[in-house]
Amino acid sequence: MTIHFIGAGPGAPDLITLRARDLIASCPVCLYAGSLVPEAILSHCPDGARIVNTAPLDLDAIIDECHKAHEQGQDVARLHSGDLSVWSAMGEQMERLASLDIPVSVTPGVPAFAAAAATLGAELTLPGVAQSVVLTRTSGRASAMPKGETLSNFAATGATLAIHLSIHRLDDVVTELTPHYGQDCPVAVVFRASWPDEQIVRGTLDSIAKLVPDEITRTALILVGPALRGKAEVRSALYSADYDRRYRPQSADSPFSSVTHE
Ligand SMILES: C[S@@+](CC[C@H](N)C(=O)[O-])C[C@H]1O[C@@H](n2cnc3c(N)ncnc32)[C@H](O)[C@@H]1O
Repeated sequence: MTIHFIGAGPGAPDLITLRARDLIASCPVCLYAGSLVPEAILSHCPDGARIVNTAPLDLDAIIDECHKAHEQGQDVARLHSGDLSVWSAMGEQMERLASLDIPVSVTPGVPAFAAAAATLGAELTLPGVAQSVVLTRTSGRASAMPKGETLSNFAATGATLAIHLSIHRLDDVVTELTPHYGQDCPVAVVFRASWPDEQIVRGTLDSIAKLVPDEITRTALILVGPALRGKAEVRSALYSADYDRRYRPQSADSPFSSVTHE
């Protein structure tokens, strides 16, 4: 018996992995974080599965559900939105499950920032502009930010920022970022990327707060940084015709000429 933590993707029911789909189909119990996981994904559950929305449950109640399934020898599909490596609360559940000797597995999912970038048709790392993406958030009621992890500190690097859980604090975000990126820095807000009611708002640090409709108060990502202009300052050498590389040696003298490809 195993608790399978499964990344359920950003919203569109077909944005889950084949492994996720098959695991969900094999588990007689499904616990899903109903605040963000779309119900359509539950159609992969087998007939008669016990399906529990964990949105109204506290940690003890969730662990009780897992423990009950464990005692009955039933595998559990534990669904969280996006990927499990960021803001999934998987860590605290795993800690409790380990203390009960309940085995777990982890299946990755499509994170919201990737779905938002896809919706925008944007590469978040452009040569000469930004080569790092910071997945971050601002302090919330449930978790404060550790000292040092401020938007200012991240912005000082010039990286592309993917700011989660913060759309309700858009004014503060703009105030903190403008001294670093400048008023004309592009910003995109993507509300419910990949859902049928997805919305995109594009602007600059100067304009974005006026452009985002008041109704957008949650489930949105704020993407900020010069890479959103979509113009690289230099080209990566990777595809240039004269770039000597393992898969395209440029001459018989190339160190890559004798390399065999697996
Ligand atoms: C608790 S975090 C979950 C993140 C998730 N584990 C992931 O991998 O993306 C929830 C935040 O992720 C962002 N988010 C989740 N799904 C989204 C979506 N479909 N479109 C835009 N933002 C989304 C929002 O910023 C939301 O406040």
